[in-house]
Amino acid sequence: MTASMPVLLSVAGLSRRFGGVYALRDVDLDVVQGETHAVIGPNGAGKSTLFSLIGGHLKASAGTIAYDGTRIDRAAPHRRARSGIAIVFQGARLFHGLTARENVMVGAHAATGAGALSATLRLPRHSRDERRIRAWSSEALARVGLADWADRPAEALPLGQQRALQVARALCGHPRLLLLDEPASGLRAAERAALAQLIAELRAGGLTMMLVEHDVAFVTRLADRITVLDLGRVIAQGVPQAIRADQRVIDAYLGGESAP
Ligand SMILES: Nc1ncnc2c1ncn2[C@@H]1O[C@H](COP(=O)(O)OP(=O)(O)OP(=O)(O)O)[C@@H](O)[C@H]1O
Ligand SMILES: [Mg+2]
Repeated sequence: MTASMPVLLSVAGLSRRFGGVYALRDVDLDVVQGETHAVIGPNGAGKSTLFSLIGGHLKASAGTIAYDGTRIDRAAPHRRARSGIAIVFQGARLFHGLTARENVMVGAHAATGAGALSATLRLPRHSRDERRIRAWSSEALARVGLADWADRPAEALPLGQQRALQVARALCGHPRLLLLDEPASGLRAAERAALAQLIAELRAGGLTMMLVEHDVAFVTRLADRITVLDLGRVIAQGVPQAIRADQRVIDAYLGGESAP
């Protein structure tokens, strides 16, 4: 861990039960500012549940979440969004029938608290907000390499560009912490490589991220630190090289293959 950088997000003793079953159990995890913190684990390990708890879309059964030194675990999702936490959920969909830019602008409205509908209705009393959000959207689209795609219908974009568009939508509210839940799923090799490049660029720009991904090779290249979940519990935590060599991780997750 970079000793000089502060912890931006601190999760302690976090649990979530569904009925009698723990989806997440007593999870401790610190995300250091400026780092990319990957969360890996088999299907049903609790990765998406963790993100929903951080975003406030699910309530914790126990435990605390502190963001930038302040407890946020009782705050409503929109307050967490406005404080700078942005999430691209697993399998997130774009608004079909809207352009790439309009999709980004709707995302910005969600993050800033302005009515999402005014993005498409362009109500006059919001015109100053609209101009500002339009400028942000241009910036976000350029940041993910989609400046030339701004006026195309979102559904006309290739899948790799659609994922980049979801990232742009999340970036438009100027988050300090970006959570990406399986952003590379279903992408072809070239698209995965482009997405990895984008994530690396965002990291180089100073953005703090959490990244859920099944492909261990993918996260090993991108992550500063990895938390491994299995059946809701943390089974390992550390830098990528240590994780790949960890016998519990190999047994639980890498199917008994030895680390290359
Ligand atoms: N709303 C819910 N109601 C009941 N059980 C749930 C709910 N959401 C998740 N679970 C259960 O919690 C556990 C963790 O699910 P979660 O979606 O967080 O796993 P995951 O690690 O994201 O899996 P995947 O890799 O398939 O996306 C699973 O056993 C799941 O069935
Ligand atoms: Mg999931």
